Amino acid sequence: MRILGIETSCDETSAAVVEETGDAGRPWAIRSNIVASQAQIHREWGGVVPELASRQHIRDICGVVDRALDEAQTRWNDLGAIAVTQGPGLVGSLLVGVSFAKAAAAAAGLPLVAVHHLAGHIESLVLQNGELPLPAIVLVVSGGHTSLYRVDRPGHYELVSRTRDDAAGEAYDKVAKLLGLGYPGGPIVDRLAKSGDERAVRLPGTRLTHADRNAPHLKGDLDFSFSGLKTAVLRHVRDRERSGARPMSDREVADVCASFQRTVVTTLVDRTFDAARRFGAKSIGVAGGVSANSRLRSDLTYHGEQREMPTFLPSLALSTDNAAMIAAAGLRKLRAGVFAPSDLNADAALAL
Ligand code: KG4
Ligand code: ZN
Repeated sequence: MRILGIETSCDETSAAVVEETGDAGRPWAIRSNIVASQAQIHREWGGVVPELASRQHIRDICGVVDRALDEAQTRWNDLGAIAVTQGPGLVGSLLVGVSFAKAAAAAAGLPLVAVHHLAGHIESLVLQNGELPLPAIVLVVSGGHTSLYRVDRPGHYELVSRTRDDAAGEAYDKVAKLLGLGYPGGPIVDRLAKSGDERAVRLPGTRLTHADRNAPHLKGDLDFSFSGLKTAVLRHVRDRERSGARPMSDREVADVCASFQRTVVTTLVDRTFDAARRFGAKSIGVAGGVSANSRLRSDLTYHGEQREMPTFLPSLALSTDNAAMIAAAGLRKLRAGVFAPSDLNADAALAL
């Protein structure tokens, strides 16, 4: 069976066709995965402007779906279902994808599947690598989320910990903004960090000892927190600007990027391996936009080899938002017999 996936939760309009292979170990193959990024539009404003995002999704969605079908050499009546991101995300953006998917499903007489955006990121690992050895610990690290999930059975995701404040990608974007580096900040900071001295600036790691009042069921000691780190970078930059006669040099900016990146990546990797040990995981996966980070990719692989723990990452194209991962998660739900009603609504705060 082939499924059309649609993703419009933030600032990428994406459509993809994914096919079942019949091979239980490697269940899905990508036939097409088209992504129209709005980064150029939002760059001018230093971040995503929700109203501009939804308007651009409306302009792009028909062309993106046409291209995805074309490239996959697939007609509407070759499809077995349509999967769409229901949430979480920007409600105006989500509504474009959900409305399009509902209309297309009704017109083509196809079943509709509603997908959680983070389930999509988790299934990007399976799409890329085949089924992971279970139980697995999966870190989803993006612009909106930094959460650890335990996966005992395919398609079942149990929240283990999450960030108390900023997501890691959000911290990257905010640090890039305060250094005047542009949007989205993650890839820029990642690039500049390579030429900086990661020990040049002393920054605090995360230390959380108290339980989370908003999530009493989680133990809390595997939680993340990045807003203190972002504030420490801000304080360093302000102090430096106040004391120095000249603006920060490229070298100094690279040092800040490298020191920040070392702190973030060390926290992410340490917590993930701690969780894997605690839950007796047989593998570790890292997915979401920040999994494109070069340091995170190399540190994860290095520590996995050192500790003889299999580690998995999506390809770079499957790390950031895309519809192939939504189609894959959709096929998973479809095979579990879970369909969406024809009056499906977008849900900006959908729980996994
Ligand atoms: O998953 P994603 O495309 O969208 C959300 O669901 O949020 O993630 C986007 C986030 C942004 O914050 C972006 O700065 C970050 O992923 N990102 C990176 C890198 N590439 C993208 N962060 C660090 N290093 C990168 N190379
Ligand atoms: Zn995402």
